[in-house]
Amino acid sequence: MNAPFFDLTAFLKEHRDIVDRCLEKVLSSFDPERELVRAMRHSLMAGGKRLRPVLALASARACGKDIKLALPAACALEMIHTYSLIHDDLPAMDDDDLRRGKPTCHKKFCESTAILAGDALLTHAFYILSRPQDFFDLVPESDTLLELTAVIAMAAGINGMVEGQMLDMQSENHQENKRNKDSLLSHLKHMHELKTGKMIAASVAAGAVSVNAQVTLKTDLAAYAGHLGLAFQVMDDILNVEGDPEKMGKAAGSDLRRDKLTFPAILGLDRSKSFAQQLIDQALGAIDRFDSQADPLRAIARYVINRDR
Ligand code: IPE
Ligand code: IPE
Ligand code: MG
Ligand code: MG
Repeated sequence: MNAPFFDLTAFLKEHRDIVDRCLEKVLSSFDPERELVRAMRHSLMAGGKRLRPVLALASARACGKDIKLALPAACALEMIHTYSLIHDDLPAMDDDDLRRGKPTCHKKFCESTAILAGDALLTHAFYILSRPQDFFDLVPESDTLLELTAVIAMAAGINGMVEGQMLDMQSENHQENKRNKDSLLSHLKHMHELKTGKMIAASVAAGAVSVNAQVTLKTDLAAYAGHLGLAFQVMDDILNVEGDPEKMGKAAGSDLRRDKLTFPAILGLDRSKSFAQQLIDQALGAIDRFDSQADPLRAIARYVINRDR
């Protein structure tokens, strides 16, 4: 059966614009001339896909609620994500020069400024969650904000993205002969689930938490997000092999050069693609029971494996 038509391009644009306006408001609370603020703006407003905040908004909508309630979490997630990219690109990590079509933060400014701009984005994300009324018209109740803080902190930190980045660093120059293929694959899945999956799962969860969704809805959404997050990073690995750096706004070929542990490195491109497709089918299956309010989530899932950036 063909999927019902849903104009994802229009949805993405509309919701990206909403998020961008809120992020502008956050940045405009600082003196724009400050070096750190310039560095934060350089990376935050460089034109990312805004997948995580849009997922949070789409998840709130799938629960039949006002997406505005999910905006504080959406902005916090994008600020944390951007900090993770700034640090990911540093010479001590992936040592990349291009991000979101612009020079990476440390190239445009300097390493210490990039480190501190990342720190500032991370810290201020949690300020926003604790004082959303400074920036947003509609805010979740205090208990909900506390829950959001826990969900997002858990996904971003030692049991989530940061640990995933640690495993990623340790996987450089991996020697395939040290492990058999099955154990490499399960290690790789674990690493991807942490470094990318947890923040994507937190984005979907944050939308549902922001609107106090029922537990059954949250459970289905968590299953959707689990599959989606892994598929997203598998696709990131695939694009690093065959993507167009012009379109992606970042370098390709770097994983191979650094001998990173990735899905294409272990399974090859074709099997990686069919694995990503299988994950997206599972993601879609998990939200079968939702009505048409979940169409944006469905369309985002399809987009994740058909994207070119
Ligand atoms: C890139 O994330 C880093 C990964 C976790 C794979 P995105 O592909 O969402 O990057 P932006 O936000 O659009 O720049
Ligand atoms: C980045 O992963 C994941 C983060 C937590 C930032 P990668 O290093 O694989 O992503 P790109 O390809 O640089 O965007
Ligand atoms: Mg990396
Ligand atoms: Mg990288």
